[in-house]
Amino acid sequence: MTALVRTREELGKARAALTGTVGVVMTMGALHAGHETLLRAARERSEHLLVTIFVNPLQFGPNEDFDRYPRTLEADLEICRRAGADVVFAPDRAEMYPDGEPRVRVSPGQGGEDLEGLSRPGFFDGVLTVVLKLFQLTRPDLAFFGEKDYQQLTLVRRMARDFDVPVEVVGVPTVREPDGLALSSRNRYLSAEERVAALSLSAALRAGAEAADGGLDAGAVLAQAHRVFGAAASGVRLDYLALTDPDLEPGPVAGPARLLVAAWVGGTRLIDNTAIRLAPRS
Ligand code: PAF
Repeated sequence: MTALVRTREELGKARAALTGTVGVVMTMGALHAGHETLLRAARERSEHLLVTIFVNPLQFGPNEDFDRYPRTLEADLEICRRAGADVVFAPDRAEMYPDGEPRVRVSPGQGGEDLEGLSRPGFFDGVLTVVLKLFQLTRPDLAFFGEKDYQQLTLVRRMARDFDVPVEVVGVPTVREPDGLALSSRNRYLSAEERVAALSLSAALRAGAEAADGGLDAGAVLAQAHRVFGAAASGVRLDYLALTDPDLEPGPVAGPARLLVAAWVGGTRLIDNTAIRLAPRS
C-alpha cells in the first residue's frame, strides 16, 4: 500500500512508522520509465521506499519552464505504487516553503559554476537547497539520483559529505530509448522532428566513447564527439560538450572520465552524459 502525504505533519507520522532502511527518490513528478528504474533500484536496496514529488520553483530561472512543467500526480502515483513505494510526499509550495522562499540557500561552490551552472545561474542553489530540506524532512538512509543529471548527482554527494548528512547517495544509470535517447520528463515537449534531431546528443556521446575505446586521447575524443554532433544536428544548438574527470574536478583527464553534453532542440534544453575510459597518461 502506498500512502500519499501532503503535509510535513503527515510525513513525520508516516516516516516514524517506517522501521528498517529507508531509501528516498526525490522527483519533480512527470515520472517516466527512467524514474521507475530509479524507484525499483531504490526499493531493491532499502526496506522502505519514500518518494517525493515537488516541482521546486527555486531551481527554475525567470525564462524557464516552471509554469508549463508537466504535473501528472495521478499517473505518478500509479508508477510509485507499481514500484512498491511505501510513502509519496507531495507537498505544495506553501507546505515546502512556509515562510516564503528561503533566505538562506545552499551554494554549490566551484563545482556548480561550470556546465549547467554557466547556462542556468542559481539552478544548483535551488536544487541543493530543496534537496537538503528534503533530507531533513525524510531522514533517509539511502538517496537515489539518476546519472542523467550527472552534475546534480556529484553536487548532492558533495553536499552530503560537506554538511555531514548521514545518507548514502547512490547514482543510478540513465535509462535510454532503444535508439539511444535518454529518458527525460522534458522529452514530451519534443515534436516528431525534434525527437529525431535530439538523437544528436546520444550520437555524439557514443562517438566519443568509441573514440576513447579506440585509444584516442582526450582532445581527439572531444573532437570526434563534436564532429558527430555537428553532422547529426539540424535545428539543434549546442550549449556544451565537455570531457571531465568523473567527479567533475578541474584539471587534465586520463583513465575514467565523463563526457557531457547539453543542447537546445527547438525550445527544449536537453542534457546527457556517459562514462568513458581514456588511456592512462604515460
Ligand atoms: O532531479 C530532479 O528532479 C530535481 O532536481 C530534484 C532532485 C528532485 C530537486 O528538485
